[in-house]
Amino acid sequence: MFYRPAEGHGLPHDPFKAMVAPRPVGWVSTLDAQDRANLAPYSFFNGCGDAPPLVMFAQTGRKSRPEAVKDTIANVRATGEFACNIVSKALKDAMNLSSGTYQPEVDEFELAGLTKTPGRAIAAPHVGEAPAVLECRTVKIVDDLPSWREHAFNIIVIGEIVGVHIDDAYIREDGRIDVEAFKPVARMGYMDYTTVTDVWEMLRPD
Ligand SMILES: Cc1cc2nc3c(=O)[nH]c(=O)nc-3n(C[C@H](O)[C@H](O)[C@H](O)COP(=O)(O)O)c2cc1C
Repeated sequence: MFYRPAEGHGLPHDPFKAMVAPRPVGWVSTLDAQDRANLAPYSFFNGCGDAPPLVMFAQTGRKSRPEAVKDTIANVRATGEFACNIVSKALKDAMNLSSGTYQPEVDEFELAGLTKTPGRAIAAPHVGEAPAVLECRTVKIVDDLPSWREHAFNIIVIGEIVGVHIDDAYIREDGRIDVEAFKPVARMGYMDYTTVTDVWEMLRPD
């Protein structure tokens, strides 16, 4: 089949996210201007630079309050900082719980029973149970992207990683990180998730 997104796909469910899959989940923790903590998952998340290391995540869609951006975006705008917590399979239900549409004053760390650990390189806290955490300072917010829906925004946040936490339990004797041990949660299309179960090494031709 071939379809132009502007004209519709004709399938029972939108296949887009099932093709850009699996996507890692950046479980983004921030502080608001009153120092209240916020935590929410973003699977439009990836690395986008090496030296310095950069990451991006994107808001899609809308918040329930018309005109409002998601709390994470508002907090990043206010503070210029965020942490991307890596989601192990053991944390999948807490991650899912934190994705509900809550008012800004709700602290999803408390809601999901997570350890709110103070940041080292930034003020925003992170998830103590996460296998790894990337503390970031905002480099750029791209908010002039097209949107088809009223009061819905596509906004990309790009951050420079300025501090990295790794749970020592997942650093193997050879110095590599044991991804298969913590099983990072990745989002696919529909309501589907996956994790890493099949790792191989392949050298480049040159
Ligand atoms: C696994 C998962 C991935 C998600 N990825 C995104 C995403 O990439 N962009 C987005 O805008 N919302 C995403 N969401 C929905 C947000 O987590 C949800 O809108 C949340 O309420 C936003 O919280 P906030 O207002 O505190 O930032 C995702 C939800 C789940 C469960």
